[in-house]
Amino acid sequence: MHVTLQQLKLFHAVVKHGGFTRAANEMHLTQPAVSIQIKRLEDHVGLPLFEHVGRKMHMTLAGRELYAACSDILERLDAFVGTIDSLKGEVSGPLRISVVTTAKYFLPHLLGAFVQDYPKVNPFLTVTNRANVLQRLEDNLDDVVIMGQVPVGMKVEAIPFLENVLVVVAPPDHPFADGRLVTLAELAAERMLVREEGSGTRIAMGKLFEEHGLSPTFHMELGSSEAIKQGVMAKLGIAVLSLHSLHLELTMGRIAMLNVEGFPQRRPWYAVYNKGKRHSLAVTRFIDFLMEKGAESALNPIRENLER
Ligand code: PGA
Repeated sequence: MHVTLQQLKLFHAVVKHGGFTRAANEMHLTQPAVSIQIKRLEDHVGLPLFEHVGRKMHMTLAGRELYAACSDILERLDAFVGTIDSLKGEVSGPLRISVVTTAKYFLPHLLGAFVQDYPKVNPFLTVTNRANVLQRLEDNLDDVVIMGQVPVGMKVEAIPFLENVLVVVAPPDHPFADGRLVTLAELAAERMLVREEGSGTRIAMGKLFEEHGLSPTFHMELGSSEAIKQGVMAKLGIAVLSLHSLHLELTMGRIAMLNVEGFPQRRPWYAVYNKGKRHSLAVTRFIDFLMEKGAESALNPIRENLER
C-alpha cells in the first residue's frame, strides 16, 4: 500500500477536527487539496473511510481501523523525534496539554515560567470541560492533562503538584458576608449556582454535601467558572469556586469570600497521562517542573488571597 505520511497526517487531522475545512487550516492547505489526498488514501485502502449520514460525516469500520493505526504511527514518530532531541540533549518540540476549565487560571502562568527556561519548547494548550478532557485522555491526544479528579477505571499515572483551594463566595453585601461562621446546612438552603454536570468543582462540592447528609437543590447551572462569577456579582446566588479563578474579583472587592464550615476545601491538582506513555525530554522536563516549581509559580499570583 503506497500511502504517504502526509496522507496519514491529513486523515488524522480530518478525524480530529471532524471535517475537511478545519483540517485544511491546521495543515495550511486548501480544502480541495485535503479532499484529493483523502480520496487517494481511500483508493489505496480500497474501501471508503467516511460515510455521510444526513449532513454528518462518520468513519466507516475501515476508517476507524486506519485512525487507530495512524494514531500509533504518529505517536511513535513524535516519540522518535523526542528521543533524537533527547539524545542531542535538546529540550524542544511540542508539548501538548489539555486542562479542565478551572486550570486555565494558573496553567498559562506555569507555561510562561517553563518556556522562559526552555524557549525551544512549543506548547499547545487546550482548555475544555472535564468530559472532553477525559475523551482526549482516552484518545491519547495530549502529552499530559491537568485535572482535579483522577478518573477511575482508566490506566493512568496521576501526579499531584498543586493545591486547589475551593472557597464559598457571595456578593459583598450578602448577609453571610459579615465574617460570621455559616454552617453547611445554612449554605445548602441558600440559592446556589453550580457548574455543569461532570465538572470537578461540582463533584467535589457534591461529595462534601453528601458526607454531611445534605442534598441541596441547586438554583442555577452555569457552564464555566467565569459565568458563575458573573452570576455571583449579579446577585443570582452564591457559589463554590476555586481560589485560582477569583484573584481579580477578590482584590477589587467585587466578590466576598465566606466563612463556611468545612471550607476552604483543599484538593490536589494532578498531571495525568496514560500509563506506559513515552514522553519526550520536553514533556519529562515539564512534569519535573510542575513537581518542583509548579506550586510556587501558580500560587504566587493568588498568595495574598490565600493568606486572608
Ligand atoms: P472543573 O475542574 O470544575 O473546571 O471541571 C476542577 C477539577 O477538576 O477539580
